[in-house]
Amino acid sequence: MILSIESSCDDSSIALTDINSAALVYHIKISQDKEHSNYGGVVPEIASRLHCQRLPQILQRLKTFLDDDLSPIKAVAVTTRPGLSVTLIEGLMMAKALCLSLQVPLICINHLKGHIYSLFIKTLAQNCSTHRDCLESCLNATLPLGVLLVSGGHTQILLMRGANDISILAQSLDDSFGESFDKVAKYLGLGYPGGPKVESYAKDFSLTYPQTPPHSFPVPLLHNQELAFSFSGLKNAVRLAIQAFPKPLHSKDIGSICAGFQKSACEHIVRKLKCFFQMREAQDLRYFAIVGGASANLYLRSQVESLCKMYDKQLLTSGLEFCSDNAAMIGIAAIEHYKRGDFTPLDEANISPRSLESDFSSIP
Ligand code: KG4
Ligand code: ZN
Repeated sequence: MILSIESSCDDSSIALTDINSAALVYHIKISQDKEHSNYGGVVPEIASRLHCQRLPQILQRLKTFLDDDLSPIKAVAVTTRPGLSVTLIEGLMMAKALCLSLQVPLICINHLKGHIYSLFIKTLAQNCSTHRDCLESCLNATLPLGVLLVSGGHTQILLMRGANDISILAQSLDDSFGESFDKVAKYLGLGYPGGPKVESYAKDFSLTYPQTPPHSFPVPLLHNQELAFSFSGLKNAVRLAIQAFPKPLHSKDIGSICAGFQKSACEHIVRKLKCFFQMREAQDLRYFAIVGGASANLYLRSQVESLCKMYDKQLLTSGLEFCSDNAAMIGIAAIEHYKRGDFTPLDEANISPRSLESDFSSIP
């Protein structure tokens, strides 16, 4: 089994994944949403201190689950990049200590690759009995795979042609999709994380006032042909609109702002995906996936699903519990590294706030 650790932002998580079947055996995650809520975003110093307290607590729970017998653990995998330096280091230090005491190798995982592998997480009960090398068969059946990654730190279109062959085709020029939801929620005093709160206000508004169009906001990069994303202009348009609204804001106003913002942000994504689907690289894709924390947004999922139908692609998504940061996705991404013997010596392993150049292939 591989023990995996995730601490790249504000979720402390540890998982156990079976190497042969790729089944998730055990998974615990403690999110820090409550602690960061008053600040409208993640405070790195607070996040780091909370990981320092909580990672040992959840490791203790895992030890109890294993009846204090850690001998089935054959490697330790940890997110080392990209993310907040002060939180990544907490996970890496625990991983190194475990490797030393258990005498097992260390696997360093890129968090973004982890999000892609969240598509393939399966529990013991869902284990596929027809294939011995189930993960490899499932992955190969979907390749080449187009991916939209939407999280708090990234908005990217990726092309995956092999387990170790992922290229970035588009990314955000400024804020990410998830971050813009967090900022809008902060302006409206809705707390952190903003994504689920903004989505829920937008949904209530459209259900309660089906005949009323939401507040209108510009769609970013509408007349720009570049395959790129941008959310800071839209975020500022929301800020100015809120300033201009008569105070106090009523829940209908908040709903109208949230629904209008979500509509423009998602329309921006869909328009850029349309450009991608018309590119040569997308012609032979049978599958397209949305991953990352913000891929839990059901409005975005439904918009992208309609687009996929138009272009004859099958949409893949992760289970809702595995969209946001978790160690289960790091464990399943680590299996292929384990089989290749791609280990990092403890004295060389380090964290990096950004991805390494070698993590991604150049554009085909
Ligand atoms: O992947 P993730 O857990 O952490 C990063 O790697 O950044 O993503 C967290 C982000 C936050 O910005 C959060 O507001 C956003 O995902 N998010 C959502 C939704 N649920 C989470 N954004 C829009 N709609 C949602 N339902
Ligand atoms: Zn993430």
